[in-house]
Amino acid sequence: MLTALLAACDGPQSALAPAGRDAERIAELFWWMAGGAAVIWLVVMLLSLHAIRTSRRPEKLQQTRLFIIGGGALFPTIVLTGLLGYGLSMMPDLLDEGDTDGPRIRVSGEQWWWRVTYEMPDGARFELANELRLPVGRRVPIWLESPDVIHALWVPSLGGKVDMIPGRVNRMALEPTRTGVFRGVCAEYCGASHAHMMFHVVVSEPAEFEAWTQAQRLPAPTPTSEAGTRGAELFALHGCGACHTVRGTDAAGVIGPDLTHVGSRMGLGAAILDNDVDGFERWIGHTNQVKPGVHMPTFDMLAPDARRALATYLEELQ
Ligand code: CUA
Repeated sequence: MLTALLAACDGPQSALAPAGRDAERIAELFWWMAGGAAVIWLVVMLLSLHAIRTSRRPEKLQQTRLFIIGGGALFPTIVLTGLLGYGLSMMPDLLDEGDTDGPRIRVSGEQWWWRVTYEMPDGARFELANELRLPVGRRVPIWLESPDVIHALWVPSLGGKVDMIPGRVNRMALEPTRTGVFRGVCAEYCGASHAHMMFHVVVSEPAEFEAWTQAQRLPAPTPTSEAGTRGAELFALHGCGACHTVRGTDAAGVIGPDLTHVGSRMGLGAAILDNDVDGFERWIGHTNQVKPGVHMPTFDMLAPDARRALATYLEELQ
C-alpha cells in the first residue's frame, strides 16, 4: 500500500505521466505487464488458499503431472511469448530516428554534466549545457556520445533511456506530445557525482522554439550593470576563458560548459542549483561541495564582492 502511495506516478520526471510518443508506448507496455502480473498473482494466491484449505489427500499422479506441465511450462511460455511479441511490435516506432529536415541535437555526457550542441538545418551550430529545448509534435533526432566514461540519457516523461558510450555515436529521437518543463537524469553509474547529473527539457510551441534558437545563435550580450561589467573583467582576469566559451568575447575554452547564454537556462551545475545570482555565487565559491569530484576548481579565494560581481555578470548572460 505504501509503495503505491509513495511511488512517484506524476510530476516532471515520471514515466507514468508520459508527455512524449515513446513514453506513451512504454507506459502502455508497463500497464499491460503490471495488470497481467496482478491477475497472475491473484490466481496463484487463490490456488495457494485452495491448497491450504483442502484436505491432504494425495492427488492422482496423472493430474499432478498435467498441472505442473500446464501451469509451470505451458502457461509461462505462452504469456512470455505474447509479451515478447507485443514488446517487439513497438520497436519500429521506438527506433524511428526522427525528422532529418529539422534541427539535430548532439549530447555528450561529461563528468558530470551534459554538453548539448544544436546543429540547425542551415548549418548553424550553437552549444549549451544541461538543457534541451524541443518543439512540441516534432520528432527530433538526438545523437549521443561521451569522451570518457559511460552515461545514459533518460527523460522518463518523454522516452526510454539510451547509453552514451565512448568511441561511438548512439542515436535516439524524442517526440514530445505536450508542452512543459521536464527533467532528465543520467541512468548509468558514471562516477562520484553520477547522482548530481540532471538536466531540464523545455518543450514549447514551434514558434516559441524557433525564437529561442534565434536568440541562442546570437553572441553574448554586453553586461549593463556596474557589477556585471566588473564581473566580466574578473572573468577575463582569473582565466575563466581557458575552460569556458563566451561567444563574442575572448573566452574560447572548450573544457567546461559554453556560457554564452548561461543566464537564460533553467538551472545551474546540471540542474542542482537555481539559476540566479545566489546560485552562481554558491557554485563559484563551493563547486566541490555542491558537486563532489567536479573538475572545476573552487574559487573560494575570491573576495565575497568579487564573487558577487562574477555571479552578476554570468546571470546577465541572457
Ligand atoms: Cu553520468 Cu551517471
